[in-house]
Amino acid sequence: SSVGKAIPHESAREHVSGRALYTDDLVGRFTGLLYAWPVQAPHAHAKVLSLKTEGALKVPGVLHVLTAADVAGANNVGPVRHDEPLFPDEVMYHAQAVAWVVAESEEAARLGAERVEVEYAPLPAIITLEEAIKQGSFLTDALRVRKGEPEQALLEAPHKLKGKIEIGGQEHFYLETQATLAYLDEYGQVMLQCSTQHPTETQTIVAEVLGIARHRVTVQCLRMGGGFGGKETQANTWAAVAALAAWKTGRPVRVRLNRTQDMTLTGKRHPFLGKFSVGFDDAGKVLGLKLELYSDGGWSLDLSEAVLLRALLHCDNAYHVPHMEVVGRVCRTHKTSQTAFRGFGGPQGMVVIEEVLDRVARTLGLPPEVVRERNFYREGDTTHYLQPVKDAERIERIWYELKTASDFAARRQQIAEFNAAHPHKKRGIALTPVKFGISFNAIQYNQAGALVLVYQDGSVLVNHGGTEMGQGVHTKILQIAAHSLGVPLEQVRIAPTRTDKIPNTSATAASTGSDLNGAAVKNACETIKVRLAQVAAQRFGVNAQDIVFQEGRVYPLGSPGKALPFAEIVKAAYAQRVQLWSDGFYRTPGLHFDRTKGQGHPFHYFAYGAAVSEVEVDGFTGQYRLRRVDILHDVGDSLSPVVDLGQVEGGFFQGMGWLTLEELVWDAEGRLATKGASTYKLPSLAELPEVFNVRFLERATEPGVVYGSKAVGEPPLMLAISVREALKDAIAAFGGGLVELASPATMEAVYWAIERVRARA
Ligand code: MTE
Ligand code: MOS
Repeated sequence: SSVGKAIPHESAREHVSGRALYTDDLVGRFTGLLYAWPVQAPHAHAKVLSLKTEGALKVPGVLHVLTAADVAGANNVGPVRHDEPLFPDEVMYHAQAVAWVVAESEEAARLGAERVEVEYAPLPAIITLEEAIKQGSFLTDALRVRKGEPEQALLEAPHKLKGKIEIGGQEHFYLETQATLAYLDEYGQVMLQCSTQHPTETQTIVAEVLGIARHRVTVQCLRMGGGFGGKETQANTWAAVAALAAWKTGRPVRVRLNRTQDMTLTGKRHPFLGKFSVGFDDAGKVLGLKLELYSDGGWSLDLSEAVLLRALLHCDNAYHVPHMEVVGRVCRTHKTSQTAFRGFGGPQGMVVIEEVLDRVARTLGLPPEVVRERNFYREGDTTHYLQPVKDAERIERIWYELKTASDFAARRQQIAEFNAAHPHKKRGIALTPVKFGISFNAIQYNQAGALVLVYQDGSVLVNHGGTEMGQGVHTKILQIAAHSLGVPLEQVRIAPTRTDKIPNTSATAASTGSDLNGAAVKNACETIKVRLAQVAAQRFGVNAQDIVFQEGRVYPLGSPGKALPFAEIVKAAYAQRVQLWSDGFYRTPGLHFDRTKGQGHPFHYFAYGAAVSEVEVDGFTGQYRLRRVDILHDVGDSLSPVVDLGQVEGGFFQGMGWLTLEELVWDAEGRLATKGASTYKLPSLAELPEVFNVRFLERATEPGVVYGSKAVGEPPLMLAISVREALKDAIAAFGGGLVELASPATMEAVYWAIERVRARA
């Protein structure tokens, strides 16, 4: 059977041989192609007093300079709140584009952009989270989730601790930067090839900017060279520029940001500030917890409120806190508009609770894993937003299975011996759990559509609303379609995602791509199969429910010898005028959430996992290496084990980059100082753990999800919190007690954390 089979990613060969086409690879197919280049502001905050385009228009090859005057519809691309002018009269972050030059070549457009004269009146800018809080600069009101009586619990608790933690952001650094090709089709309507996780929203925004109905705009996404959340809303702006230029000139237009433009123009993972007060008993059991979370949203709202909400709903991680309140607010700063990034606020919330538990443990002199164990959710518990923790037993099942498999106890002992013998090198180990809620918090997004076409030769073409960004949704959908129709994989093909095939789609995000679209495709396939079964039943003289579809053969139950090829049944069905194609639809049942109360059932289920990381730290330099990582992760019944393995390894590694290497630096003027791979350190082969064991939880069927599977895109990223906690464990070995380690835990940060511990010892 196709589902659960360990096959390579459907484009693996193309990926590694360079033959996979991405949006910008299509440029050669257009004659008369135009290029657009942004005019980027040299201030973090300023009024635009005047904008003169004459100089630019004198540059040979320059056709036009796009400004607000070209916009017939809305001069706004804000996806949630209409707070993002496409052509602003007030600059809100350094390097924001105020106009776009359209020319016959990229070089002409670039030279033209240099000749656009803009007069600015600089205004005071807010760059840091602290300044924003101090000045009351917020993008939202406070969100609150509360259970029990945390004030009372804190008052009565035998031990109390207060503290704060700052968590840095993260650049998506998808290998393929933002790209769109826009042109007018044979009817003069707008067609876009776009690297977007959300073709429907790109279509919507483009239609709004042009002031035309959505049925006149079609968006196609072939595949992305990575999205990671960075193309969930933030592909729209560049698509709107390309569409507007094509609309204006009647010629095809390419907008592709180069790396520096991409890094200076697009939003990142939100930096967070977390403040906590925790009350606990002698055993390390948390009795009461109060958290304040502030996120740095940058200049506009984008998805920041939803990201913050997910942080609020994940700062329990796998732990039952009887009395808890978490309040969060999005701060406005004059920076890029921070956006979705794998985990969507969940990781920041979970880093905070893991930090709290580590401090509780080190205050009591207990091993952190013991404190973690004592606080786990048990069957029957509910979260702080009052959703029952379904399958809570999996937390402990995974935990103890991994503890044994990774030889945790013996290694703790070995590490203690190593540390006793080495004054300047210390090792540390940490085991951390993951519980991640699956479903979009915005309930209406939890729906999906599909269109499955069967041709007379028995070949199958599948359309669905999900987009491929390397995560393997197309591979899984192929497997689902082949499996449910009972045909070999080779007989099925996936069409590029298009808004004129599947309308009103949700973003491929929140890890729900294969849950939602897979279920919609299965629904369509089953409709087709029911019709074909009737045709076959007549042929064989049996009941329709006794027809078996398997590997391209159709036969009556128990008589595989009588099998006919799938294509023959299809041909017979066509001759009888039976419909050979079907739509499919799915909506996740049982979801509800009340934002004002901060209560409900926002998640269909939870994905679970745990990781053990071991590090070695050098006391002179803060340099460290990741000696070994063991992961046990819950993917339900894997739809595609090779794809899932890649997601677990890749997610972990990307999380590790965020927590240890990748540091975004903005200077006092609000300029991004880290705007290329030379200054922004990404994880590479050199940082791979020396030993890396990844296993899936067995006997893990998830009944309410397509073929018993579980979402896998984001949850593994948070397994990397074990690396941060292991570093603290090693740092503590230099002197004991609390460890204050900045995030990201760069070498420099580790060095200073060791210095602080040593100063106390
Ligand atoms: N994996 C790859 N290779 N590239 C990506 O861009 N994005 C991640 C994750 N895994 C991503 C990835 C994010 S942020 C999400 S939400 C999911 O994939 C989206 O796809 P899915 O819902 O099909 O899992
Ligand atoms: Mo993923 S951050 O939900 O695109």
